[in-house]
Amino acid sequence: MIGYRRPFPGFQFLLLLLFRASFLLQLESKCQNGCDLALGSYYVTAGLNLSYITGLFGLTYRDVSPYNPNITDQNYVVAGSRVNVYFPCDCINGDFLGHSFSYVALSGDTYQKVATDYFANLTTAAWLAKFNRYSSTQIPDGATINVTVNCSCGNKSVSHDYGLFETYPLRPGENLSSVAEEFELSSKEDLLQEYNPGVNFSAGKGIVFIPTKDGKTSTIENI
Ligand SMILES: *[C@@H]1O[C@H](CO)[C@@H](O)[C@H](O)[C@H]1NC(C)=O
Ligand SMILES: *[C@@H]1O[C@H](CO)[C@@H](O)[C@H](O)[C@H]1NC(C)=O
Ligand SMILES: *[C@@H]1O[C@H](CO)[C@@H](O)[C@H](O)[C@H]1NC(C)=O
Ligand SMILES: *[C@@H]1O[C@H](CO)[C@@H](O)[C@H](O)[C@H]1NC(C)=O
Ligand SMILES: *[C@@H]1O[C@H](CO)[C@@H](O)[C@H](O)[C@H]1NC(C)=O
Ligand SMILES: *[C@@H]1O[C@H](CO)[C@@H](O)[C@H](O)[C@H]1NC(C)=O
Ligand SMILES: *[C@@H]1O[C@H](CO)[C@@H](O)[C@H](O)[C@H]1NC(C)=O
Ligand SMILES: *[C@@H]1O[C@H](CO)[C@@H](O)[C@H](O)[C@H]1NC(C)=O
Repeated sequence: MIGYRRPFPGFQFLLLLLFRASFLLQLESKCQNGCDLALGSYYVTAGLNLSYITGLFGLTYRDVSPYNPNITDQNYVVAGSRVNVYFPCDCINGDFLGHSFSYVALSGDTYQKVATDYFANLTTAAWLAKFNRYSSTQIPDGATINVTVNCSCGNKSVSHDYGLFETYPLRPGENLSSVAEEFELSSKEDLLQEYNPGVNFSAGKGIVFIPTKDGKTSTIENI
């Protein structure tokens, strides 16, 4: 009968190595979980309608209406306003928080056009090029494109008070105080900046993450 023997010399060392490797891998992965819900701020340009906008995100007017208390007529959305859309915020490849939408390309589409025009700068051409195999100028008509939009689930070392975040593309003319005011965070500009370390709110481009208590504004609740 063979007694219990060490499998082979160096086995323990190998185990140790594996353990360390998985530990390092964990340290390297930047997210472990996402969260159920994130909002996106869609800047409306002339000629767009609500069914088109919501459709890009797989939603309908009825879905988004609780997050857009100031839209009273679904057939009328003002150019220059912003529509709140929502989506699950996923941890993608253990690397970053985002959500991937599918977009069916039309003739002449480029990543630039998809990012800036159709998805209203919620993403960028460079970020789209990372998740699609076509070259930007050779996207076949009817091809399904991955449109990845970044999101946030907050940061416990900044604050525990916020559980829902909105991905907000900055526009020229905006700044930290104007964005804070729009979200009734005027007394909390520092917090807004802390959630977006190093971001220049006056840059006129790029996305920021805005903490919101709950997208649904409770206007009727108090009556
Ligand atoms: C909304 O816009 C899309 C795309 O431009 C168009 O196909 C559709 O007919 C429009 N819908 C309404 C209700 O205007
Ligand atoms: C709703 O109100 C907010 C805050 O005033 C504004 O930023 C947004 O553009 C408005 N959205 C619509 C669709 O009117
Ligand atoms: C997106 O950004 C580009 C470049 O800054 C700008 O020209 C365009 O109007 C923006 N689109 C929207 C919908 O805000
Ligand atoms: C999304 O997040 C990743 C990781 O932080 C970053 O590299 C990328 O530039 C972001 N994309 C956009 C469109 O902001
Ligand atoms: C979209 O992403 C999926 C999953 O990562 C991938 O299989 C597919 O090839 C991508 N689509 C394009 C057009 O590259
Ligand atoms: C959370 O905030 C802390 C302190 O500001 C910062 O050091 C850390 O990088 C942030 N974490 C994430 C995932 O953004
Ligand atoms: C921020 O933008 C608002 C609105 O565009 C403007 O009135 C204000 O002067 C700006 N503030 C700063 C500090 O630039
Ligand atoms: C932020 O961006 C604006 C516009 O590009 C620029 O004028 C300003 O100097 C920048 N601020 C900082 C602190 O980099």
